[in-house]
Amino acid sequence: MLEGGVGLGHVSSAVRTTGRFGGTVTADCNTPGRPAAAEAAAPTLRCLVLTGFGGYDKLKLQQRPAAPPAPGPGQLSLRVRACGLNFSDLFARQGLHDRLPPLPLTPGVEGAGEVVAVGEGVADRKVGDRVMVLTRWGMWQEEATVPAAHTFLMPEAMSFEEGAALLGNYLTAYMVLFDFGNLRPGHSVLVHMAAGGVGMAALQLCRTVENVTVFGTASASKHEVLRNNGVAHPIDYHTVDYVDAIKKISPRGVDIVMDPLGGSDTAKGYSLLKPMGKLITYGVANMMTGPKRNLMAMARTWWNQLSVTAQQLLQSNRAVCGFYLGALEDDPELLGRVVARLLALYSQGHIKPHIDSVWPFEKVANAMKQLQEKKNVGKVILVPGPEKD
Ligand SMILES: NC(=O)c1ccc[n+]([C@@H]2O[C@H](COP(=O)([O-])OP(=O)(O)OC[C@H]3O[C@@H](n4cnc5c(N)ncnc54)[C@H](OP(=O)(O)O)[C@@H]3O)[C@@H](O)[C@H]2O)c1
Repeated sequence: MLEGGVGLGHVSSAVRTTGRFGGTVTADCNTPGRPAAAEAAAPTLRCLVLTGFGGYDKLKLQQRPAAPPAPGPGQLSLRVRACGLNFSDLFARQGLHDRLPPLPLTPGVEGAGEVVAVGEGVADRKVGDRVMVLTRWGMWQEEATVPAAHTFLMPEAMSFEEGAALLGNYLTAYMVLFDFGNLRPGHSVLVHMAAGGVGMAALQLCRTVENVTVFGTASASKHEVLRNNGVAHPIDYHTVDYVDAIKKISPRGVDIVMDPLGGSDTAKGYSLLKPMGKLITYGVANMMTGPKRNLMAMARTWWNQLSVTAQQLLQSNRAVCGFYLGALEDDPELLGRVVARLLALYSQGHIKPHIDSVWPFEKVANAMKQLQEKKNVGKVILVPGPEKD
């Protein structure tokens, strides 16, 4: 076991999770009563399992018997080649995710791999297809079974790492900017967490529209990357009041505020909106201050959240929207249309996932630290491994 890694053990109980879009992702990670010798000889599959809520040690690398895949009607099984790590996985580990099924469970909402079996009624996928997947949980394992309707064919030129980095970040950024934000030429946008997964996706999407001015907040060490990716005004929110900084440059404020922070930052964002401006809130990162949950930060974020009446909105010509990708599970057609648009942008070279780092399952703690300790620029990826020497 290497530094920061997790030990490889055998899964002690069944892991069964519900698919984001109403299906079921299965990881039968249990081998009750199996003799040790038989287990040692039988081929196994690796899976990460969340065994409790808390710090990094709650994620265990385990193995389960490699039974032949048996997808049910409407499902397919895939050999997972790469998985995305998201902020929501940090919330899940801390027990702060409101839609989490009972533990133990295999986390991971997105990934990419090769189809190894298709269930009854699946006509548009075949063995060997390269697909990316968006699901509720269960992708952090070598083999997963998911509803076929929630998989998307990958272009030939796309790597598995890119496939695992695309759906969560780009669907969120696209729908926030275009569907709610109505981004148009000449607009100005404030992107918080601008160097993160969703942030970098948003920067690329802003460049697909003419003459968009982007203000981006991130740690100072990331500002050069931000400038290279179209941010006209990078702001180090650790040392500078970003409201003052933006008002100095643009006294009337901005047209769109992307708000993944919540708490007092939502009200600050609202105060920055021009008439006809839109604030889209899609996260509560302010609730997170370290590896374990912080009740004070949670209370502060909840207490300071924006409160605005319909009358105030009417009089100020502003809009406040909320976006949650996970709650679009009943509308795969809507998501399919946006994915088609994203794939067109990818093929035209307008977007390309920016991969921060790739970690084998053994190093899931290090991978999580990249996000938690604010080190990542772009997307953090996990691969089943095993880790190479
Ligand atoms: N509603 C939805 O459907 C949806 C979907 C996807 C993501 N999201 C939200 O979008 C945001 C970005 O998600 P992501 O997965 O792309 O993560 P990410 O942006 O890659 O997150 C890591 C980065 O966020 C910044 N950050 C700001 N506050 C932080 C905090 N309290 N703790 C740790 N890092 C913090 C750090 O960079 P700097 O400090 O340098 O800025 C860090 O490097 C999150 O709030 C997430 O919940 C929402």
